[in-house]
Amino acid sequence: MKPIYLAPLEGVTDNIYRNTFLRYYGGVAKMFTPFLSPCSTHKFTTRETEEIDPARNDVRIVVPQIIANSSEHFLWAAGEIIDRGFGEINFNLGCPSGTVVPKKKGSGLLFFPDLLDRILYDIFAALPSMCPPSTKSGVPDADTPGTDIPDSATPGTNIPGAYVPAAGTPATGSAPGPDSSMPKISVKTRLGKEDPDEFYEILEIFNKYPISEITVHPRIQKDFYKEPIRPEYVDFALEHSKAPIVFNGEIKSVDDIRRVEAEHPGLTAIMLGRGLITNPELALHYRKISATPESTRSDILNDAESLSRMSSGDTAPDGHGISDADRFRAFHDDLLAQYVERLSGDKPVLHRMKEFWALWQEAFPGNATALKQIRKAKSVAEYRSASSRILCKPIS
Ligand SMILES: Cc1cc2nc3c(=O)[nH]c(=O)nc-3n(C[C@H](O)[C@H](O)[C@H](O)COP(=O)(O)O)c2cc1C
Repeated sequence: MKPIYLAPLEGVTDNIYRNTFLRYYGGVAKMFTPFLSPCSTHKFTTRETEEIDPARNDVRIVVPQIIANSSEHFLWAAGEIIDRGFGEINFNLGCPSGTVVPKKKGSGLLFFPDLLDRILYDIFAALPSMCPPSTKSGVPDADTPGTDIPDSATPGTNIPGAYVPAAGTPATGSAPGPDSSMPKISVKTRLGKEDPDEFYEILEIFNKYPISEITVHPRIQKDFYKEPIRPEYVDFALEHSKAPIVFNGEIKSVDDIRRVEAEHPGLTAIMLGRGLITNPELALHYRKISATPESTRSDILNDAESLSRMSSGDTAPDGHGISDADRFRAFHDDLLAQYVERLSGDKPVLHRMKEFWALWQEAFPGNATALKQIRKAKSVAEYRSASSRILCKPIS
């Protein structure tokens, strides 16, 4: 059985979603924040500050993600994150968005291998001087998964600027090796911009540094989220990467998870995005099925299947749909109540809930009219009435 990670999804997996998901479902080993985008002001936005607030996050399993085109900005944000007790920081090298890529951020940085190399060099050179605070409340024990915080670490945080090698010193990857006292830096990457073979050079660069984990979303920038994935490049990574490899992309069912696990031996974990939002039971189902002896697995699959059909009309195999309608309704109502409380006015609440339904709708086929009403809802009251037409259907 592989650990399952919840992928970062901007506009979807914020701290409210993550905490509510954990309360009702869980089954994941790590949850990534949508990207934080530090800049020269060295100030987080209110939203970004909330995303890394230790009072709103379990720092043992939440991994803040940074998108940046400069080591200076990355290191400033990393210092802030380490100071709050997180043990891992993820570097976004995958975002394909047209607003991000021209700034040499996200997958845009993959177009500039020398710059990427230099930024990674600077980050890993500066990292040893960034001391995790070991004595703050809420900071996990050294043996907590996902963290390696030594007892001897100095409280407080030393936030250095970027390390700049002496003039003429090439960034050849002679940065310090892994050290258990250093915060972990992981990477979430695409294969390149125009041609997936760009990945060979990118992986060579990654291999120069003590990256703790590489999540590969096997698409190029131009593929956005729709073109078919290229899983053979994950096999290349598994064979040639020094860092452990995590698979991400187009996994929507327990069958998919098990197929990916079987087809790519050696994966450290599997990251689920839209599939886990659409069906928040997915990680739990996978764990349950994987922990069950082969001989009795078909019973569980059959149960999940029939429950799925009863609650959602979904006829896909292996618990593709949501099996526990009551739990999902409570989860939905809790999310809605929190957004109503935290956001001001109906508009942002509706925006948020409609983003969810763009994914949830797949789990509720046969509800075209109510789904249209949800999309058209202009007030929370209209939204409640439309969503209850789907969520309050009795199981029969
Ligand atoms: C609406 C949306 C927002 C996303 N936001 C982020 C993000 O903030 N950081 C990131 O690394 N990836 C982001 N992604 C990419 C996902 O993490 C994931 O790599 C992608 O959806 C493919 O995985 P999936 O097929 O399991 O959904 C986003 C994807 C979508 C659809």
